[in-house]
Amino acid sequence: MASCFALFVFALMFVATLHATPLSKSDRQPLRKEPSLRELFCNHFEVGFGTGVPNPQRTALVRHHASVVSCENDLKAYSLLPAPGRWSWDKADAWLGWAESMGLTPIGHTLVWCHQMPGWLQEGIKAGEWSRERALKWQEDYIKTVLSRYGSRVLIWDVVNEALSDSPHDPKGEEFLRSDPWSDLCGVEYIVEAFRSARKAAPKARLFYNDYGLENPAKRARLFKLLKILEENDCRPDAIGIQGHYRLDDPTVDAIEETILDIHKAGYPVHITELDVSIHKWNDEPDLQLTQSGEARLQTSRTELPQPIVEHQTARYREIFEVFLRHSDKIERVGFWNTDDGNSWLNNFPVKGRPDYPLLFDENLAPKPAFEAVRQLAEDFGISVPDR
Ligand code: GLA
Repeated sequence: MASCFALFVFALMFVATLHATPLSKSDRQPLRKEPSLRELFCNHFEVGFGTGVPNPQRTALVRHHASVVSCENDLKAYSLLPAPGRWSWDKADAWLGWAESMGLTPIGHTLVWCHQMPGWLQEGIKAGEWSRERALKWQEDYIKTVLSRYGSRVLIWDVVNEALSDSPHDPKGEEFLRSDPWSDLCGVEYIVEAFRSARKAAPKARLFYNDYGLENPAKRARLFKLLKILEENDCRPDAIGIQGHYRLDDPTVDAIEETILDIHKAGYPVHITELDVSIHKWNDEPDLQLTQSGEARLQTSRTELPQPIVEHQTARYREIFEVFLRHSDKIERVGFWNTDDGNSWLNNFPVKGRPDYPLLFDENLAPKPAFEAVRQLAEDFGISVPDR
């Protein structure tokens, strides 16, 4: 009997040691060699990536560099509700489980967006089957359902994405919302109601408005018009997401700075949500190569970037981060869209199959000169990686 008891105690102790196994030396090693952006900027802003569940190498990169992750596609309406009444949670559940397992703060992107809406909904609207009332009720139910599932685990949401008109000029001051079927049907009320529904369904969550091109003063004026409407309706967002899809020369660094300052002055914290720096102007050269027969053809394979472009992008990242660091009291997060040049959405947009090189890590996940420039900048600001 006594020996049975001793055996039982021994077994218990063995199981306990399994659970309390101290970290082995290799577990304590950094996942990657370069300094961690999360650690480097921990006294300034959070660092994040927009991504789905990536492969193990990319997961290591995210773990090493990020404190937050934004859901690239799996929380968008086309993914969650592919057919009327047929909810599809698997991918979103997997993404959230992945983010939580690494202790990363998950960001819900995005509850309402005119793009990546379910195809059946878009077709129904085009066919005139949806009234404004029906659309707004659908939106309310949709937000309620998504937030009743995730609203206590995901505490930051991009509630509405890209609602504002893009027009660079606004001579009559009339343009406001981007014209798309959802907005044409519901007007600004869909934005007000989206914030109202989200606040009600997830009272503890922080609710953001997210958009690109806010560096254009005309679009920024539309942002402030929208914020006034939201404030008047008691639906004030908690922060503004500046997407930060930049190019080598555009927008100017002064415009980036002014945008941050204006949003801060209006009383909103800034999140840089989708940073990348495309090497292309837009959908024009230098992508067309002449074949031997003289025919123009799209360059679709990745090539080594010419040195002047590498240098230009490196300097560009430095100047952008310089602004972020100088205004880090106004910025809560700097998030990149995708992890590395190999999986950037810009390899397929706006020109399908055209390689781009917009991030700090190349397609082999190695840090680029632009990464080194950001690290060096941090050092110039007197920032060093804190001791582990
Ligand atoms: C926008 C959206 C993101 C994503 C990117 C491109 O910026 O906000 O969800 O779709 O475009 O991938």
